[in-house]
Amino acid sequence: MITSLVLRRPDDWHLHLRDGAMLRAVLPWTARCFGRAIVMPNLRVPVSGSAEAMAYRDRIRAALPPSCSFQPLMACYLTDHTDPDALAAGHDAGVFIAAKLYPAHATTNSDHGVTDLALIRPVLARMERIAMPLLVHGEVTDPTVDIFDREAVFIDRVLAPLLADFPGLRVVFEHVTTGEAVAFVRAHAGTGRVAATVTAHHLLINRSSIFEGGIRPHLYCLPIAKRERHRLALVEAATSGEAAFFLGTDSAPHPITAKETACGCAGLFTAATAIELYAEAFDAAGRLDRLEAFASLNGPRFYGLEPNVERITLRRGPTLVPEAVTAEDGAVVRPFRAGSTLNWQFGDD
Ligand code: DOR
Ligand code: ZN
Repeated sequence: MITSLVLRRPDDWHLHLRDGAMLRAVLPWTARCFGRAIVMPNLRVPVSGSAEAMAYRDRIRAALPPSCSFQPLMACYLTDHTDPDALAAGHDAGVFIAAKLYPAHATTNSDHGVTDLALIRPVLARMERIAMPLLVHGEVTDPTVDIFDREAVFIDRVLAPLLADFPGLRVVFEHVTTGEAVAFVRAHAGTGRVAATVTAHHLLINRSSIFEGGIRPHLYCLPIAKRERHRLALVEAATSGEAAFFLGTDSAPHPITAKETACGCAGLFTAATAIELYAEAFDAAGRLDRLEAFASLNGPRFYGLEPNVERITLRRGPTLVPEAVTAEDGAVVRPFRAGSTLNWQFGDD
């Protein structure tokens, strides 16, 4: 039985940090463990230009614990009005590592997202030319499509045509939740231009979990968790060691008051124990030997970056998930698996 594991320091390729008091409350949990993270740009006022991104990056750096070397990597929020020249300049200047496509109204703070891909064709063509990755929230917004089918339908209606139209475009299919998405990524993985992030929670829960003993608002996220067979497909993909699959928590904090309400927000806060949760999933699959590829190597390779040099240690032993993370303005966030004990301990050495 493996009792301890040394990994290159991992990175989180999909993270929501918010701003202000919430940013200051949640950032230390990510920064204790991860070397870098792509910070999602869906603030209430979207991060859609280089100046806003640099200012946001400064606020993130200012919220870091002293002498912490965590690096925030910024993504540009695409809108119907994104200017290809400005986007390319932001990429060239090292402000933006990627751009994020939120189909308008698909999820939290996506109202300024793209209403019709035809409107951003010049942007996509430029991104293709400069090899700037497109990060995709892969769900259709058509209300007549069942919520559990929105990712699979997105592949057929949007993603497959997009990749055919822009054969050089590099795409990350974010937070995949279905066997269909896994198969699609694999079918394109040979080209090295399509990859996917997988969250810890989608490796650990299925759609029945959301209704176990009653309705569980803290397990509601988008894309919503799917059937058990899809969870198993995600576990198989994440633990395969294949270069196309890497770690992205999609940790998305919301105050408890916005979750435990008649119409609760989508998003799970997993950052409090992210690497421990992934270790649980990989351990359950008997594939701890492949955690480092998924968490620390495949992501940097896709983004053309070096893996982190430092190491972290995971030891078999109890970790108590905090009951709550409280921001200085009084907002309380309930972590995924709050109050329970996980089987892995993170060590920074
Ligand atoms: O569950 C989610 N929460 N999915 C998203 O796509 C956005 C995120 C958030 O920002 O809260
Ligand atoms: Zn997200």
